[in-house]
Amino acid sequence: MSELPKLPKVYAAISMPLEGMNRLRKLCQVTVNDRDQDPTRQEFLDGARGMDALIIYPQVTVDKELLDTAGPQLKVIGTFSVGLDHIDINLCKKRGVKVGHTPDVLTTATAEAGVNLVMATARRIQECIRAVKDGVWGTVWDNAMWLAGKEIAGSVIGIVGLGRIGLAIAKRLAAFEVSKILYTGRNSRPESAESIGAEFVTFDQLLEQSDFVIVACSANDSNKGLFNAAAFKKMKNTAILVNISRGVVVDQDALYNALKSGEIGAAGLDVTTPEPLPTSSPLLTLPNCLVTPHNAPCTVTTRNAMCELTVDNILTGLEGRPLKAPAF
Ligand code: NDP
Ligand code: DGY
Repeated sequence: MSELPKLPKVYAAISMPLEGMNRLRKLCQVTVNDRDQDPTRQEFLDGARGMDALIIYPQVTVDKELLDTAGPQLKVIGTFSVGLDHIDINLCKKRGVKVGHTPDVLTTATAEAGVNLVMATARRIQECIRAVKDGVWGTVWDNAMWLAGKEIAGSVIGIVGLGRIGLAIAKRLAAFEVSKILYTGRNSRPESAESIGAEFVTFDQLLEQSDFVIVACSANDSNKGLFNAAAFKKMKNTAILVNISRGVVVDQDALYNALKSGEIGAAGLDVTTPEPLPTSSPLLTLPNCLVTPHNAPCTVTTRNAMCELTVDNILTGLEGRPLKAPAF
């Protein structure tokens, strides 16, 4: 009797109870981490051993240890993210391991989350909710400035990283009748900038002039700790920082000091260091710091689209074809 062809083996560190996974299951032998907790590093290494493909997310670091543990048969890694800062891309190239990611399909949801953080911090939503729950509501009419917020209309918006998501955020905020949109990055992006009338400025100029500073860049060696004590000093005392990029771009101790001392007005963070942010983090004691759990692209539509694209990346990689969304 002839041997049945072996199905390729896939380990998914992320549970994706979505249609796309059924497609994968029909063609591969899939092991999923489906307990309600992220796998520990050791559990992930154990799961990756002997696999042909891996499905990962930003908290899973792809380095020599992981590639060695997985073994030379590993063909493709699909990350459930557009960001690639957790992956040693050069090493993957050297080892012939293909890497796929999820650009574009999450741009809208992430941009909407960025705008949500701008609005929520500007109108002090966290403090408003707390005031209602704590029963201190009632003082509003005898103090006209109680919980007074900041308007987006007429403000200067500063985008750090006018890529897909930065541009999508800027386009949405333009509808709020802002006075100016500034952006900074390693390169000017005239085509994108022209579509929203944005002006390319230096990082310092952006800090000095912006009422809202929105970080939407990819994380890399050029911007680790970019938002440090010196940067916060240059910002307006009323400025609001929104970060949907990566936690490493912000020095969190410096941010805490800047928020506590009133050097800047408020912050809205979807990303932190580490993740999850421990509940003991001093940032969580501040009324002017709003933190969401790194879920900016988390809508039903986008999660499904990310799953489909990740599965496409894995299947094309296993078939030896160009990936649907290659990282390189
Ligand atoms: P893009 O590649 O389209 O854009 C990245 C932008 O970052 C580019 O415009 C690049 O411009 C800019 N950039 C890189 N380094 C710097 C720097 N030092 N200073 C300023 N700008 C810089 O990616 P996306 O817009 O699709 O995604 C951006 C990032 O957002 C992802 O890499 C990821 O980290 C994060 N993200 C977070 C999500 C969340 O859940 N919170 C969801 C999705 C994405 P240039 O090369 O000219 O410097
Ligand atoms: C990304 O896409 O980079 C997000 O951070 C994870 O979904």
